[in-house]
Amino acid sequence: MRRKVIAGNWKMYKNRDEAISFIYEVSSQVPSKDQVETVICAPAVFLRDLVKREGEDLRIGAQNMYFEDQGAYTGEISADMLTSYGVEYVVLGHSERRGLFFETDELINKKTKQAIKKGITPIVCCGESLETREAGTTEAFVSKQIIAAYEGISKEEALKTIVAYEPIWAIGTGVTATSEQANDTIKMVRQTLASLYDQDAASQIRILYGGSVKPANVEELLAMSDIDGALIGGASLDPQSFITLAKAGLKS
Ligand code: PGA
Repeated sequence: MRRKVIAGNWKMYKNRDEAISFIYEVSSQVPSKDQVETVICAPAVFLRDLVKREGEDLRIGAQNMYFEDQGAYTGEISADMLTSYGVEYVVLGHSERRGLFFETDELINKKTKQAIKKGITPIVCCGESLETREAGTTEAFVSKQIIAAYEGISKEEALKTIVAYEPIWAIGTGVTATSEQANDTIKMVRQTLASLYDQDAASQIRILYGGSVKPANVEELLAMSDIDGALIGGASLDPQSFITLAKAGLKS
């Protein structure tokens, strides 16, 4: 049984006061962590303030980190910096990082390895563009991303990761993949993981869907056989909306 994960991705939104008041309002209202893993991935500058107030059932994650232990990497944040604040999750390889900040599969693989080594749960993102979907090459494209992200990672390590399938055409557009489209691609990601490791690993690794998830569609998505949770941008910014999304994790 794969425990559901409901993860908010705040991107570059909110100021400090808004971030803190969100956590105060939400942390006592999300489901118990034994039932649903609920995470807010916040801008790095808020992490210290938020971790202090996160509570048992609402955990705080980062949106990015660098793969080196330390060094002359102006503007970057290391895994040790995150763990020193008690941060337990990090989003890696989000399509905005890939597209706007030129992150490659190879870089994402290095970051994934570093997160695992340092005891941070990576939420490894994959997903195709509209052109790729229309060309009918989604499976080949997404499975290549997964194979590259997990290069050199053992089964034992892979079990510590979470995957997020986020079709780029559905992110922030209001267009959600249908639950069947999302489930079919996620099944294919699971098959790719089975081919890299084995069926046992593939049946344990949680795979989330992301892309215009909101209270109105979350239950249908989470009811699908292979969708183990959601990575949510826009609809994670409002406290009541996020509470509804987290509670939806209890129903499926
Ligand atoms: P969205 O973003 O929910 O606003 O579409 C999802 C994401 O980018 O993680």
